Amino acid sequence: MTTVRLTPTDNAVSFDTDALVVGVHTGPDGLLPAPGAEGLDQALGGRLAATLESVGAKGKPGEISKIPTFGALTAPLLVVVGLGDAPGDGSKEGYDAEILRRAAGTAVRALAGTGRVALALPAASAEHAGAVALGGLLGAYSFTRYRTAGEQSSPVSELAVLTDAEGAQAAIERATTLATSVSLVRDLVNTPPSDLWPARFAEIAEQVGTEAGLSVEVLDENALKEGGYGGIVAVGQGSANPPRLVRLSYSHPEAGTKLAYVGKGITFDSGGLSLKPTASMDWMKSDMGGAGAVFGALLAIARLGLKVNAVGYLCLAENMPSGTAQRPSDVFTSFAGKTVEVLDTDAEGRLVLIDGIARAGQDDPDVIVDVATLTGAQIVALGWRTAGVMGNDDDLRAEIVATAGEQGEAAWPMPLPDELRKGLDSPVADIANLHPERFGGMLTAAIFLREFVPDGVRWAHIDMAGPAFNKGEAHGYTPKGGTGAITRTLVGLAERYAGEPPR
Ligand code: BES
Ligand code: MN
Ligand code: ZN
Repeated sequence: MTTVRLTPTDNAVSFDTDALVVGVHTGPDGLLPAPGAEGLDQALGGRLAATLESVGAKGKPGEISKIPTFGALTAPLLVVVGLGDAPGDGSKEGYDAEILRRAAGTAVRALAGTGRVALALPAASAEHAGAVALGGLLGAYSFTRYRTAGEQSSPVSELAVLTDAEGAQAAIERATTLATSVSLVRDLVNTPPSDLWPARFAEIAEQVGTEAGLSVEVLDENALKEGGYGGIVAVGQGSANPPRLVRLSYSHPEAGTKLAYVGKGITFDSGGLSLKPTASMDWMKSDMGGAGAVFGALLAIARLGLKVNAVGYLCLAENMPSGTAQRPSDVFTSFAGKTVEVLDTDAEGRLVLIDGIARAGQDDPDVIVDVATLTGAQIVALGWRTAGVMGNDDDLRAEIVATAGEQGEAAWPMPLPDELRKGLDSPVADIANLHPERFGGMLTAAIFLREFVPDGVRWAHIDMAGPAFNKGEAHGYTPKGGTGAITRTLVGLAERYAGEPPR
């Protein structure tokens, strides 16, 4: 992975690097160099703004201008990234961290193939230095494992963050830890399902999790059958690659709170016998993104040594049609003891999650949060980039939405209207997995899950069907394909419960 280090801001002109990145604002009277760019204008003979205007720069977010320095700076290339309007209060500290993350990511993505990149963006506080580092590291991500020619390794080898802020070293260490987790989640999502099936995912979790200091337990298909995990068994029974349940746990002697995270880990979702149409299937390798986020978050929590207790469950299965697959109208008994009629085998995520949620209840957690690429209805309701947050506790739901916002991950609260519960009544079992109404599909899925939440436990559900996988163009620090979405929100929530300030 790309490495990152710090250097003081007065180094900008003479810093030995292949590209120097600065920011520019859209000002009322033209372009306005951002903090970090001041000294450079002088070195460039006062021509920075005029040069930028001549190449059509407007200072808008997402905009990049590359300017050769002809020896005026040690860096041969100056890269100017748009930051939009200057902070309303006009201060060096007034920046929104997400603007900085995205700007750093945009710049580093535009510099793929460049060896060393120095980021002289506004970083007056440790939080902002961390944001610049994180955006840069996430923007440097690439997935080239399956290419036989060309770039095989990280396209940017070293990042330097120019800052004088106190505490910046700790902030870039946190950023590196987060970026390592998010990059691993992206790799897992991007890995073709022929190379990532439940047992393989469990092996990776065991190996990497143990190295990070987590306790890891894996239940195989026999243990799942014996243990009464009817949902995970039912979804996995159609595949030649049997299911797994992974439990990751982390504890801190001074912890006040125990968090339980449960992730949907469908390594491929064909729909099962309720087969998906081709156009909806080709990206269903991403259906383990929830388990990926839980895994990545537990790794980061352990590596950061946060003052919380945390358990993570990865509910791993491959949803395939075959002679052994579950049939629409089959009934199974879930881990919680309730029976479920399976009317649609493509509504499989909720079936594996209810076993994970009920099992998590045995750990006596204060909070359960499940994360899943659960419904196409989430994308209909909120679009590709905004996750839906639901739950049985409005305060917890609000905390998660706020935490996501702090980390720069878009999430929005959604309701669980009681009148939708009736549609899940089954004529034969305790509950059916499909609501006859297509409308409100994100909500009915969550209402199904709610039935399996242990009594008295605060629970929230994050549907990230859209955010987990970027089918469009790369933007900011988000690449095409696997995004690692919600990993940072889960870490941020743990930091919040560990009593750490938001950053
Ligand atoms: N994995 C899908 C949901 C999904 C859709 C994720 C698009 C990412 C992008 C899930 O298992 C599914 O198939 N859900 C069905 C539920 C329906 C049958 C009630 C859906 O949303 O169509
Ligand atoms: Mn499905
Ligand atoms: Zn699915």
